[in-house]
Amino acid sequence: MFVLGLQGSPRKKGNTHDLLSIFMEEAEKQGALTQTLLARELDIQPCKELIVCEKKGFCPIRDEMEPKVYPLLKRADIIVLASPVFFYNVPAQLKALIDRCQMFWGRKYRLELKEPNAKNRQGILLSCGGSGGKKLFDGLELTAKIFFDALSVKYKGGLTYRHIESPGQMAAYPNLREDVKEKVKELFHPFLSGKKILFISREDACLGQMAAAFFRFHSPGGHRVFSAGLEPALELLPQTLKAMEEKSLDLKYLKPFSLDALLSNQEFDLIVYLNKAREHPKIKGRQSIVWEINRPRVMSDNDLKKIRDDLEARVRALIESLPSST
Ligand SMILES: Cc1cc2nc3c(=O)[nH]c(=O)nc-3n(C[C@H](O)[C@H](O)[C@H](O)COP(=O)(O)O)c2cc1C
Repeated sequence: MFVLGLQGSPRKKGNTHDLLSIFMEEAEKQGALTQTLLARELDIQPCKELIVCEKKGFCPIRDEMEPKVYPLLKRADIIVLASPVFFYNVPAQLKALIDRCQMFWGRKYRLELKEPNAKNRQGILLSCGGSGGKKLFDGLELTAKIFFDALSVKYKGGLTYRHIESPGQMAAYPNLREDVKEKVKELFHPFLSGKKILFISREDACLGQMAAAFFRFHSPGGHRVFSAGLEPALELLPQTLKAMEEKSLDLKYLKPFSLDALLSNQEFDLIVYLNKAREHPKIKGRQSIVWEINRPRVMSDNDLKKIRDDLEARVRALIESLPSST
């Protein structure tokens, strides 16, 4: 489980910093990998409403959104939007990041592409504000809902705290850790009975990514699905993205993952090898299967389509064979 925190406060050690840190500590205790992006430290320009994203599915603005933010948003199973209330909404640095996610909105609603992991992705809001009004969090909650919808992430509500102003006040809140623990438990609950499945290929730029996407998309949810490469490439093959877009599945901004990095803190119920038998590393897993996919060295679009369809059929059969999907 990969949990991404988006920290919106301009303060270095303010209240939402404390709130998010406690959340991440509790998520790590439950076995999650976590990472936090600080909106204030990123070079993010505001949206210029060029509408390229709605027509072509990418944002032409060159800053840190494409290299640093989009891939993490795409990879996350859980996104935690942590923000103080500024004039009944999020601070400007975080708002710029959110607005630039119109790119995901364009890919989903204009280009009609689907997020393969939509059944599993969840999002929550962590927030605090200085005053005590009934509607204090209404603006942030609406923004969070629409932001998460663009990312095909289910909004699972928030933990919001009134009368929090000076730094340190949040951490002193008596029920804070208990509230956070409950929320983490609620978010992790759907995965308790699911399987952990890993697809291994040489570069994680094509076969493993397609198999993992099909698994996430066709399975009923609750499984944790990974792909990783023995020698990970820097990017997915452009042909892979195109072949999957023909199936309406959106893999743009996913990155190949290193098997070594993944194995440092994970164990799996099932490992599916997509490369040749002699290349397999010895990995601890309860069960493993080998699908030796015959991938030509130079692959035409037609070759790839055949491989894609073969993989989809194999993945569907695998899902059927799992006890939890019956
Ligand atoms: C520019 C600005 C706008 C704010 N607007 C509001 C507001 O509309 N309502 C409110 O209750 N608190 C408001 N606050 C107070 C913050 O929400 C509060 O101090 C919060 O605890 C700050 O969290 P942080 O330490 O994580 O930055 C505002 C603070 C600033 C600096």
